[in-house]
Amino acid sequence: MVKKYASLLSADASEYKKIIEDIEKKGFSGFHFDIMDGHFVKNFAFNAAIIKSLRKLTKLPFQAHLEIENPGEYIDMFIDAGCQIITVHPHTCKLDRELRYIRTKNSLASVAIDPEMGIEVVEKYINLIDNVVVMSVYPGFGNQKFNENSLKKIKDLKRIIGESALEITISVDGGISNKTEDLVTESGADILIYGSSLFRYLFFTT
Ligand code: DX5
Ligand code: ZN
Repeated sequence: MVKKYASLLSADASEYKKIIEDIEKKGFSGFHFDIMDGHFVKNFAFNAAIIKSLRKLTKLPFQAHLEIENPGEYIDMFIDAGCQIITVHPHTCKLDRELRYIRTKNSLASVAIDPEMGIEVVEKYINLIDNVVVMSVYPGFGNQKFNENSLKKIKDLKRIIGESALEITISVDGGISNKTEDLVTESGADILIYGSSLFRYLFFTT
């Protein structure tokens, strides 16, 4: 059964409480927070204090998507704020060290694959990974067009993970909507991360 996570990047901050309650009622399985530092991406979003406050509003899992330089320095901060899944980008860190560290904290180790990246890094560190985030947009902003090249990556990952017999989930982040969700699901995704479409299609219309 495919799970839905909600990214609050495009949410109106004055409505967070109501939005979180409504998303929970709609059967979503967790929340995805994009932490941005103005360096790795040209945008700013969220921090540990905001996430700690939002943590009081729901018991659903939180995923921290660290779109920042040197994420290893901040893993503890986001776990302490209440995140159970920590996602890092390979080019920002010493990947194997960060993945191992996340697991020592009893959290799920997750790696993001940027649109221009192949999936070799997953093959290389497959024993250290609990979740892969296939980025179907460039990191940094919501409301971009879904990149169809991600579909082949999802299929290839599904095959490789199947062959490994490890329990690794495939999440897809970017451009997920009622127009793309079936394609992504059919390709083998386990977790769909909805950002701006929450407010366009799902949130106000059903
Ligand atoms: C982009 C973020 C995404 C973003 C997706 O850097 O990683 O999580 O919220 O937004 P949509 O769904 O609008 O593409
Ligand atoms: Zn994200």
